[in-house]
Amino acid sequence: MDRTVTTIIDAERCTGCGLCIRVCPSETLSLENGKAVVTGSESIGCGHCQAVCPADAIRVEALPDDALALETIPVSDRWIPHGAFDSAELVGLMRSRRSCRNFHDRPVGRPLLRDLVKIGTTAPSGSNRQQWTFTVLPERRAVKALAETVAGFFRKLNRRAANPVLRSLLGMVGRKELATYYRDYHRAIEEKLSDWEQGGRDWLFWGAPAVIVVGSTPEAVCPAEDAMLATGNMLLAAHAMGLGTCAIGFAVAAMKNDPAILDRLGIPRTEAVWAVIAMGWPDEAYQRLAGRKPAMVRFFEV
Ligand SMILES: Cc1cc2nc3c(=O)[nH]c(=O)nc-3n(C[C@H](O)[C@H](O)[C@H](O)COP(=O)(O)O)c2cc1C
Ligand code: SF4
Repeated sequence: MDRTVTTIIDAERCTGCGLCIRVCPSETLSLENGKAVVTGSESIGCGHCQAVCPADAIRVEALPDDALALETIPVSDRWIPHGAFDSAELVGLMRSRRSCRNFHDRPVGRPLLRDLVKIGTTAPSGSNRQQWTFTVLPERRAVKALAETVAGFFRKLNRRAANPVLRSLLGMVGRKELATYYRDYHRAIEEKLSDWEQGGRDWLFWGAPAVIVVGSTPEAVCPAEDAMLATGNMLLAAHAMGLGTCAIGFAVAAMKNDPAILDRLGIPRTEAVWAVIAMGWPDEAYQRLAGRKPAMVRFFEV
Protein backbone atom coordinates (compact mmCIF):
# COMPACT_ATOMS: atom_id res chain seq x y z
CA MET A 1 0.00 0.00 0.00
CA ASP A 2 1.11 3.52 -0.74
CA ARG A 3 1.79 5.16 2.61
CA THR A 4 3.79 8.06 1.22
CA VAL A 5 3.71 11.11 3.44
CA THR A 6 2.36 14.09 1.50
CA THR A 7 1.82 16.30 4.55
CA ILE A 8 3.31 19.78 4.27
CA ILE A 9 3.49 22.05 7.31
CA ASP A 10 3.86 25.82 7.08
CA ALA A 11 6.22 26.48 10.00
CA GLU A 12 5.48 30.21 9.88
CA ARG A 13 1.82 29.59 10.61
CA CYS A 14 2.22 26.71 13.08
CA THR A 15 1.66 27.79 16.68
CA GLY A 16 2.73 24.46 18.16
CA CYS A 17 -0.66 23.64 19.68
CA GLY A 18 -0.12 19.92 19.03
CA LEU A 19 -3.67 19.20 17.91
CA CYS A 20 -2.54 17.64 14.64
CA ILE A 21 -0.35 15.16 16.50
CA ARG A 22 -3.23 14.17 18.77
CA VAL A 23 -5.55 13.24 15.89
CA CYS A 24 -2.98 11.58 13.62
CA PRO A 25 -3.48 7.77 13.51
CA SER A 26 -0.12 7.12 11.81
CA GLU A 27 2.37 8.88 14.11
CA THR A 28 3.40 10.92 11.11
CA LEU A 29 3.91 14.18 13.01
CA SER A 30 5.68 15.33 16.17
CA LEU A 31 6.49 18.58 17.87
CA GLU A 32 10.04 19.80 17.64
CA ASN A 33 11.14 23.14 19.01
CA GLY A 34 7.52 24.17 19.41
CA LYS A 35 6.55 23.39 15.82
CA ALA A 36 4.81 20.45 14.18
CA VAL A 37 7.12 18.54 11.87
CA VAL A 38 6.88 15.40 9.78
CA THR A 39 8.97 12.77 11.53
CA GLY A 40 7.16 9.57 10.61
CA SER A 41 7.84 7.72 7.41
CA GLU A 42 4.25 6.72 6.72
CA SER A 43 0.82 8.29 6.46
CA ILE A 44 -2.59 6.86 5.68
CA GLY A 45 -3.48 10.24 4.16
CA CYS A 46 -6.66 10.73 6.18
CA GLY A 47 -6.33 14.52 6.36
CA HIS A 48 -7.20 14.78 10.05
CA CYS A 49 -4.20 17.05 10.67
CA GLN A 50 -5.25 19.45 7.93
CA ALA A 51 -8.83 19.47 9.16
CA VAL A 52 -7.98 20.10 12.82
CA CYS A 53 -5.30 22.80 12.49
CA PRO A 54 -6.59 26.11 13.91
CA ALA A 55 -3.82 27.98 12.07
CA ASP A 56 -4.56 26.42 8.67
CA ALA A 57 -0.90 25.44 8.54
CA ILE A 58 -1.19 21.97 7.02
CA ARG A 59 -1.80 20.63 3.54
CA VAL A 60 -2.02 16.97 2.65
CA GLU A 61 -1.14 16.98 -1.01
CA ALA A 62 -2.66 13.59 -1.69
CA LEU A 63 -6.07 15.13 -0.96
CA PRO A 64 -6.87 17.69 -3.66
CA ASP A 65 -9.38 20.34 -2.56
CA ASP A 66 -11.72 19.74 -5.49
CA ALA A 67 -11.97 15.94 -5.23
CA LEU A 68 -15.29 16.28 -3.41
CA ALA A 69 -16.62 19.36 -5.24
CA LEU A 70 -20.16 18.52 -6.35
CA GLU A 71 -21.79 19.63 -9.58
CA THR A 72 -25.45 19.41 -8.65
CA ILE A 73 -25.68 20.80 -5.12
CA PRO A 74 -23.75 23.51 -3.28
CA VAL A 75 -21.94 21.95 -0.36
CA SER A 76 -20.29 23.99 2.35
CA ASP A 77 -16.79 23.16 3.55
CA ARG A 78 -17.94 23.74 7.11
CA TRP A 79 -17.31 20.82 9.46
CA ILE A 80 -20.45 19.97 11.44
CA PRO A 81 -19.45 19.31 15.06
CA HIS A 82 -20.68 16.24 16.92
CA GLY A 83 -24.25 16.78 18.01
CA ALA A 84 -24.72 19.92 15.89
CA PHE A 85 -26.79 18.29 13.16
CA ASP A 86 -30.52 17.74 13.48
CA SER A 87 -30.43 14.06 14.36
CA ALA A 88 -34.22 13.76 14.16
CA GLU A 89 -34.04 14.95 10.53
CA LEU A 90 -31.24 12.52 9.78
CA VAL A 91 -33.12 9.57 11.26
CA GLY A 92 -36.21 10.74 9.39
CA LEU A 93 -34.22 10.62 6.15
CA MET A 94 -32.86 7.17 7.00
CA ARG A 95 -36.33 5.88 7.72
CA SER A 96 -37.79 7.46 4.59
CA ARG A 97 -35.36 5.79 2.18
CA ARG A 98 -37.09 2.81 0.65
CA SER A 99 -36.00 0.40 -2.01
CA CYS A 100 -37.57 1.79 -5.15
CA ARG A 101 -39.00 -0.59 -7.74
CA ASN A 102 -40.92 1.85 -9.96
CA PHE A 103 -38.99 4.39 -11.99
CA HIS A 104 -39.74 7.08 -14.55
CA ASP A 105 -37.92 6.71 -17.89
CA ARG A 106 -36.16 10.08 -17.48
CA PRO A 107 -32.36 9.64 -17.37
CA VAL A 108 -30.60 10.51 -14.13
CA GLY A 109 -27.92 12.65 -15.79
CA ARG A 110 -24.18 12.20 -15.57
CA PRO A 111 -23.47 15.13 -13.18
CA LEU A 112 -25.75 13.62 -10.54
CA LEU A 113 -24.22 10.19 -11.04
CA ARG A 114 -20.73 11.65 -10.71
CA ASP A 115 -21.81 13.47 -7.54
CA LEU A 116 -23.23 10.30 -6.02
CA VAL A 117 -19.93 8.52 -6.57
CA LYS A 118 -18.11 11.36 -4.79
CA ILE A 119 -20.61 11.17 -1.94
CA GLY A 120 -19.92 7.43 -1.74
CA THR A 121 -16.24 8.15 -1.22
CA THR A 122 -16.93 10.16 1.93
CA ALA A 123 -17.49 6.80 3.69
CA PRO A 124 -14.81 5.37 5.99
CA SER A 125 -12.55 2.67 4.53
CA GLY A 126 -10.13 0.16 6.06
CA SER A 127 -6.72 1.86 6.49
CA ASN A 128 -8.20 4.71 4.45
CA ARG A 129 -7.31 2.78 1.32
CA GLN A 130 -10.37 3.97 -0.59
CA GLN A 131 -9.86 1.10 -3.00
CA TRP A 132 -13.46 1.10 -4.11
CA THR A 133 -14.41 1.28 -7.75
CA PHE A 134 -17.59 2.62 -9.31
CA THR A 135 -18.81 1.50 -12.70
CA VAL A 136 -21.61 3.75 -13.87
CA LEU A 137 -24.25 2.70 -16.38
CA PRO A 138 -25.80 6.08 -17.13
CA GLU A 139 -28.50 5.04 -19.59
CA ARG A 140 -31.29 2.54 -19.75
CA ARG A 141 -29.73 0.95 -22.84
CA ALA A 142 -26.65 0.01 -20.82
CA VAL A 143 -28.78 -1.20 -17.91
CA LYS A 144 -30.75 -3.43 -20.29
CA ALA A 145 -27.52 -4.83 -21.73
CA LEU A 146 -26.37 -5.72 -18.20
CA ALA A 147 -29.79 -7.20 -17.42
CA GLU A 148 -29.53 -9.41 -20.51
CA THR A 149 -26.08 -10.65 -19.46
CA VAL A 150 -27.26 -11.36 -15.91
CA ALA A 151 -30.34 -13.12 -17.32
CA GLY A 152 -27.96 -15.30 -19.36
CA PHE A 153 -26.19 -16.31 -16.16
CA PHE A 154 -29.45 -17.28 -14.47
CA ARG A 155 -30.65 -19.15 -17.56
CA LYS A 156 -27.52 -21.32 -17.38
CA LEU A 157 -27.80 -21.72 -13.61
CA ASN A 158 -31.46 -22.73 -13.88
CA ARG A 159 -30.59 -25.35 -16.50
CA ARG A 160 -27.91 -26.79 -14.23
CA ALA A 161 -30.15 -26.70 -11.16
CA ALA A 162 -32.97 -28.47 -13.02
CA ASN A 163 -30.69 -31.47 -13.52
CA PRO A 164 -31.43 -33.89 -10.62
CA VAL A 165 -28.31 -36.00 -11.31
CA LEU A 166 -26.05 -32.98 -11.03
CA ARG A 167 -27.82 -31.83 -7.85
CA SER A 168 -27.38 -35.16 -6.12
CA LEU A 169 -23.78 -35.66 -7.32
CA LEU A 170 -22.82 -32.25 -5.93
CA GLY A 171 -24.79 -33.01 -2.75
CA MET A 172 -22.74 -36.18 -2.26
CA VAL A 173 -19.52 -34.16 -2.13
CA GLY A 174 -21.02 -31.73 0.35
CA ARG A 175 -21.95 -29.05 -2.16
CA LYS A 176 -25.60 -28.46 -1.47
CA GLU A 177 -25.83 -24.94 -2.97
CA LEU A 178 -27.36 -26.11 -6.24
CA ALA A 179 -30.06 -28.10 -4.44
CA THR A 180 -30.80 -25.16 -2.16
CA TYR A 181 -30.99 -22.82 -5.15
CA TYR A 182 -33.32 -25.26 -6.92
CA ARG A 183 -35.59 -25.42 -3.90
CA ASP A 184 -35.67 -21.68 -3.13
CA TYR A 185 -35.28 -19.86 -6.43
CA HIS A 186 -35.52 -22.04 -9.54
CA ARG A 187 -39.24 -21.67 -10.19
CA ALA A 188 -39.48 -17.97 -9.44
CA ILE A 189 -36.42 -17.21 -11.60
CA GLU A 190 -37.81 -19.31 -14.43
CA GLU A 191 -40.99 -17.23 -14.41
CA LYS A 192 -39.12 -13.94 -14.23
CA LEU A 193 -36.81 -14.95 -17.09
CA SER A 194 -39.74 -15.82 -19.26
CA ASP A 195 -41.34 -12.45 -18.41
CA TRP A 196 -38.12 -10.68 -19.40
CA GLU A 197 -37.81 -12.62 -22.66
CA GLN A 198 -41.37 -11.75 -23.61
CA GLY A 199 -40.67 -8.05 -23.10
CA GLY A 200 -42.61 -7.98 -19.84
CA ARG A 201 -41.51 -6.57 -16.52
CA ASP A 202 -37.85 -5.99 -15.72
CA TRP A 203 -37.72 -8.01 -12.51
CA LEU A 204 -34.01 -7.47 -12.09
CA PHE A 205 -33.50 -3.70 -12.30
CA TRP A 206 -37.16 -2.70 -12.13
CA GLY A 207 -36.86 -0.53 -15.26
CA ALA A 208 -34.20 1.68 -13.67
CA PRO A 209 -32.57 4.12 -16.09
CA ALA A 210 -29.16 3.96 -14.34
CA VAL A 211 -27.01 1.59 -12.34
CA ILE A 212 -23.85 2.01 -10.29
CA VAL A 213 -21.75 -1.10 -9.65
CA VAL A 214 -19.62 -0.76 -6.52
CA GLY A 215 -16.49 -2.88 -6.44
CA SER A 216 -13.03 -3.01 -4.93
CA THR A 217 -9.48 -3.44 -6.15
CA PRO A 218 -7.35 -6.30 -4.78
CA GLU A 219 -5.38 -3.92 -2.51
CA ALA A 220 -8.38 -3.10 -0.30
CA VAL A 221 -7.98 -4.50 3.24
CA CYS A 222 -11.72 -4.46 3.99
CA PRO A 223 -13.15 -4.60 0.47
CA ALA A 224 -16.72 -5.65 1.27
CA GLU A 225 -17.07 -3.32 4.23
CA ASP A 226 -15.67 -0.32 2.34
CA ALA A 227 -17.89 -0.91 -0.67
CA MET A 228 -21.05 -1.37 1.41
CA LEU A 229 -20.35 1.72 3.50
CA ALA A 230 -19.93 3.75 0.31
CA THR A 231 -23.12 2.17 -0.99
CA GLY A 232 -25.02 3.12 2.17
CA ASN A 233 -23.93 6.74 1.77
CA MET A 234 -25.05 6.76 -1.84
CA LEU A 235 -28.46 5.24 -1.09
CA LEU A 236 -29.16 7.84 1.55
CA ALA A 237 -27.86 10.81 -0.43
CA ALA A 238 -29.76 9.65 -3.50
CA HIS A 239 -33.01 9.79 -1.55
CA ALA A 240 -32.20 13.30 -0.31
CA MET A 241 -31.42 14.32 -3.90
CA GLY A 242 -34.74 13.05 -5.22
CA LEU A 243 -33.64 9.69 -6.60
CA GLY A 244 -35.02 6.25 -5.85
CA THR A 245 -32.57 3.38 -5.44
CA CYS A 246 -32.57 -0.37 -4.98
CA ALA A 247 -29.63 -2.63 -4.14
CA ILE A 248 -29.75 -5.61 -6.50
CA GLY A 249 -28.21 -8.67 -4.87
CA PHE A 250 -29.16 -10.94 -7.78
CA ALA A 251 -26.88 -8.93 -10.06
CA VAL A 252 -24.05 -9.11 -7.51
CA ALA A 253 -24.43 -12.89 -7.27
CA ALA A 254 -24.26 -13.22 -11.06
CA MET A 255 -21.18 -10.99 -11.28
CA LYS A 256 -19.38 -12.86 -8.50
CA ASN A 257 -19.93 -16.16 -10.28
CA ASP A 258 -19.50 -15.21 -13.93
CA PRO A 259 -16.44 -13.11 -14.76
CA ALA A 260 -17.68 -12.74 -18.34
CA ILE A 261 -20.19 -10.20 -16.96
CA LEU A 262 -17.27 -8.16 -15.60
CA ASP A 263 -15.60 -8.35 -19.03
CA ARG A 264 -18.77 -7.03 -20.64
CA LEU A 265 -18.73 -3.98 -18.33
CA GLY A 266 -15.01 -3.38 -18.69
CA ILE A 267 -14.39 -4.27 -15.04
CA PRO A 268 -11.02 -6.01 -14.58
CA ARG A 269 -11.37 -9.58 -13.29
CA THR A 270 -9.03 -8.69 -10.41
CA GLU A 271 -11.77 -6.48 -8.98
CA ALA A 272 -14.56 -7.78 -6.78
CA VAL A 273 -18.15 -6.56 -6.99
CA TRP A 274 -20.07 -5.96 -3.76
CA ALA A 275 -23.10 -3.89 -4.67
CA VAL A 276 -25.18 -3.08 -7.70
CA ILE A 277 -27.43 -0.07 -7.23
CA ALA A 278 -30.39 0.46 -9.55
CA MET A 279 -31.47 4.10 -9.55
CA GLY A 280 -33.71 6.63 -11.20
CA TRP A 281 -36.43 9.19 -10.62
CA PRO A 282 -38.99 7.40 -8.47
CA ASP A 283 -42.47 6.72 -9.78
CA GLU A 284 -43.81 5.85 -6.32
CA ALA A 285 -44.58 7.73 -3.13
CA TYR A 286 -45.42 6.63 0.38
CA GLN A 287 -47.93 7.97 2.88
CA ARG A 288 -46.06 6.90 5.97
CA LEU A 289 -42.94 5.25 7.33
CA ALA A 290 -42.58 1.48 7.53
CA GLY A 291 -41.33 -0.26 10.64
CA ARG A 292 -38.55 -2.74 11.26
CA LYS A 293 -38.40 -6.02 13.10
CA PRO A 294 -37.12 -5.61 16.65
CA ALA A 295 -33.32 -5.64 16.57
CA MET A 296 -31.40 -8.64 17.88
CA VAL A 297 -29.30 -6.77 20.38
CA ARG A 298 -27.20 -7.82 23.33
CA PHE A 299 -25.05 -5.95 25.81
CA PHE A 300 -21.93 -7.44 27.27
CA GLU A 301 -21.21 -6.14 30.72
CA VAL A 302 -18.78 -7.16 33.45
C1 LIG B 1 -27.54 -6.88 -0.06
C2 LIG B 1 -28.92 -6.55 -0.57
C3 LIG B 1 -29.40 -7.20 -1.71
C4 LIG B 1 -30.65 -6.87 -2.21
N1 LIG B 1 -31.07 -7.46 -3.38
C5 LIG B 1 -32.26 -7.07 -3.93
C6 LIG B 1 -32.65 -7.57 -5.21
O1 LIG B 1 -31.94 -8.34 -5.87
N2 LIG B 1 -33.83 -7.14 -5.73
C7 LIG B 1 -34.64 -6.27 -5.04
O2 LIG B 1 -35.70 -5.91 -5.56
N3 LIG B 1 -34.29 -5.78 -3.81
C8 LIG B 1 -33.11 -6.15 -3.26
N4 LIG B 1 -32.72 -5.61 -2.05
C9 LIG B 1 -33.60 -4.68 -1.33
C10 LIG B 1 -34.21 -5.31 -0.09
O3 LIG B 1 -35.26 -6.18 -0.46
C11 LIG B 1 -34.71 -4.18 0.82
O4 LIG B 1 -33.61 -3.42 1.24
C12 LIG B 1 -35.46 -4.68 2.03
O5 LIG B 1 -36.65 -5.31 1.65
C13 LIG B 1 -35.82 -3.54 2.99
O6 LIG B 1 -36.61 -2.58 2.33
P1 LIG B 1 -36.12 -1.07 2.19
O7 LIG B 1 -34.80 -1.05 1.46
O8 LIG B 1 -37.19 -0.39 1.40
O9 LIG B 1 -35.97 -0.49 3.56
C14 LIG B 1 -31.47 -5.92 -1.53
C15 LIG B 1 -30.98 -5.29 -0.39
C16 LIG B 1 -29.72 -5.58 0.08
C17 LIG B 1 -29.19 -4.87 1.28
S1 SF4 C 1 -2.43 21.75 14.51
FE1 SF4 C 1 -1.54 23.32 13.19
S2 SF4 C 1 -0.85 24.89 14.62
FE2 SF4 C 1 -1.23 23.07 15.86
S3 SF4 C 1 0.80 22.04 15.93
FE3 SF4 C 1 -0.30 21.15 14.17
S4 SF4 C 1 0.38 22.40 12.43
FE4 SF4 C 1 0.92 23.57 14.28
